[in-house]
Amino acid sequence: MSLLRFGVTLLLFAYSLGEPGTFSVDYENDCFRKDGEVFRYISGSIHYNRIPRVYWKDRLLKMYMAGLNAVQTYIPWNYHEESPGRYSFSGDQDVEYFLQLAQDIGLLVILRPGPYICGEWDMGGLPAWLLNKKDIVLRSSDPDYITAVDAWMGKLLPMIKPYLYQNGGPIITVQVENEYGSYFACDYNYMRHLTKLFRSHLGDDVVLFTTDGAGVGFLKCGSIQDLYATVDFGPGGNVTAAFDAQRHAEPRGPLVNSEFYTGWLDHWGSRHSVVSTTRVAKSLNEILSMGANVNLYMFIGGTNFGYWNGANTPFAPQPTSYDYDAPLSEAGDLTEKYFAIREVIKMHRKIPEGPIPPTTPKFAYGTVVMKQLQTVSDALEILSFSGPVKGMYPQTFIELSQAFGYVLYRTRLPVDCNTPTPLSSPLNGVHDRAYVSVDGVSAGILERNRAISVNVTGKSGSQVDILVENMGRINYGKSINDFKGLVSNLTLGADTLLGWTMYSLSIDEAVSQGLLGETKPTAPPAPAALSLPAFYGGSFIIPDGIPDLPQDTYIKLPQWRKGQVWINGFNLGRYWPSRGPQITLFVPANILTTAAPNNVTVLELEEAPCSPGTCSVEFTTTPVLNATVQSDLKQHWRLFTVDDL
Ligand SMILES: *[C@@H]1O[C@H](CO)[C@@H](O)[C@H](O)[C@H]1NC(C)=O
Ligand SMILES: *[C@@H]1O[C@H](CO)[C@@H](O)[C@H](O)[C@H]1NC(C)=O
Ligand SMILES: *[C@@H]1O[C@H](CO)[C@@H](O)[C@H](O)[C@H]1NC(C)=O
Ligand SMILES: *[C@@H]1O[C@H](CO)[C@@H](O)[C@H](O)[C@H]1NC(C)=O
Ligand SMILES: *[C@@H]1O[C@H](CO)[C@@H](O)[C@H](O)[C@H]1NC(C)=O
Repeated sequence: MSLLRFGVTLLLFAYSLGEPGTFSVDYENDCFRKDGEVFRYISGSIHYNRIPRVYWKDRLLKMYMAGLNAVQTYIPWNYHEESPGRYSFSGDQDVEYFLQLAQDIGLLVILRPGPYICGEWDMGGLPAWLLNKKDIVLRSSDPDYITAVDAWMGKLLPMIKPYLYQNGGPIITVQVENEYGSYFACDYNYMRHLTKLFRSHLGDDVVLFTTDGAGVGFLKCGSIQDLYATVDFGPGGNVTAAFDAQRHAEPRGPLVNSEFYTGWLDHWGSRHSVVSTTRVAKSLNEILSMGANVNLYMFIGGTNFGYWNGANTPFAPQPTSYDYDAPLSEAGDLTEKYFAIREVIKMHRKIPEGPIPPTTPKFAYGTVVMKQLQTVSDALEILSFSGPVKGMYPQTFIELSQAFGYVLYRTRLPVDCNTPTPLSSPLNGVHDRAYVSVDGVSAGILERNRAISVNVTGKSGSQVDILVENMGRINYGKSINDFKGLVSNLTLGADTLLGWTMYSLSIDEAVSQGLLGETKPTAPPAPAALSLPAFYGGSFIIPDGIPDLPQDTYIKLPQWRKGQVWINGFNLGRYWPSRGPQITLFVPANILTTAAPNNVTVLELEEAPCSPGTCSVEFTTTPVLNATVQSDLKQHWRLFTVDDL
């Protein structure tokens, strides 16, 4: 080994291994202690699972430059254990690399490994395969749930143990469960079991904590012996009163707000949430003036790529963007809120000097003409690798061993329907949206809580195709056992529809392998208000001679209605401009290439603007997340009320 190589090796070694330290709660002096010194954290939430790996460093540096000394992240179980015992921890899922980066940049880490995380993430981070046991009681002592949790934590916690502050890593505290006091089960044995489990893997020295709403009611079921109780609350309220709730559970020790809301989440069909910078700055200043510890949730929200968004009850799925009106935008851009927060922090701690990494440049690649490819029904052989399953009654996604995306349910009309006959889901069992066609002509849409019936006509024996979309599992409250697909029988008139052929669809695989072909010539489209769910493809070349391309961009689908969009096989997420408020989808530069044409694939579920004439998608430099929404909601969304718990 040359001297140089030796030197490099030593450097790398020193780089990745910090000095072991101590971190503890000082009950006498109402503070944390780090290496014996009084310590207070000012932290921000960043979910590595919502940001492409290539951007982790940029976002963490921006957080560091804002004056934060820590970051907080969840670890979503379902992101890492796709099926029992099959773990993924590489690429965008490389949580160890994320922890290492945080440490290298000079940020401590507050880790929230669940098992349940909420987080507006599919099923609150719990893997859908837990529902293989139909009546499982999630987040409780249910033995099947516990067995799965033990196996997962047995994999995860030993992996993160070297990253504990005590072992020379960045992790100062570890949260157990999440807002458990808001869950109906109130199972102390479950929380005791988790405590023992975390201790057995991580040791006795690490500070374990819980987080609950800032109300004595929440802390009742959420806090437990040996876990330091903290609270969460947003700006604009009475900070003293909120911390009084924490004091009820923890008479002594540091004050901690584990989720101070810098913004708020969105739902399809509801107005974009905005929280004023002035309110955030004012409350943050109050919190810091009390000497309290705080985590800003979110500091950067990021994106629900693919199918990862969750939903609230009554069923209201969240959109693809998780911008959150946070101080760093979805794309990591510096905002007015970022600088306002930095000014507040500056009044309470010395913040680093030097340049703040700039907002990343965006590029408008322009208009891309799209061509119709196959319909979903025409492409079943390509899309359904495993072939169909037959059954008298419909089966759920989980029964069909599918977690996300779309399943096609096919049956035949048992009788002539010469006049419009209602095809219905009397038990509201379409989870979540179904695109119904009869003999290749669209008949309408069924939607959970909104449309339980469509009229169909056709001869006996006509083929009925029902493409069912999973729009994201409920992530909060008592309804997280959210089965997808046709979860109850459909009726035609007074009769139950029988004899189903069910196609699990591997759409992502088919798209990324470029398997979808052009549409075969058919009869001119029948007059229908909607078209059949179908794929559309187009491509664009990134221009030569402009430095630093590819750059980030936003895709916009004007006049398209609802669907899913991929670029070069990467699933960007759902678009639904006809409902809003999100109009553009964030396209990170790392999925684009200058080496070949970039391929855009769209699955349009309702109606593409392609016939007559040409249709296109558009790349722009400006995000639009706040379009006005038609307030066609029958229910008034009352999120986070007692009824939903
Ligand atoms: C805030 O709450 C505290 C404690 O409950 C109370 O003493 C105080 O009057 C409240 N302040 C305001 C402005 O309402
Ligand atoms: C179905 O057709 C009947 C009779 O034409 C009509 O009254 C009813 O509103 C229709 N239902 C739907 C869901 O369109
Ligand atoms: C459909 O109805 C049959 C007969 O009543 C019942 O056995 C079956 O469980 C139902 N299926 C679903 C998915 O509800
Ligand atoms: C896009 O598709 C074309 C045709 O299949 C292929 O040649 C090209 O490599 C693809 N581009 C990328 C970036 O995968
Ligand atoms: C959307 O946000 C932009 C940028 O903040 C703002 O200029 C615009 O007025 C907003 N539009 C609506 C409909 O709220």
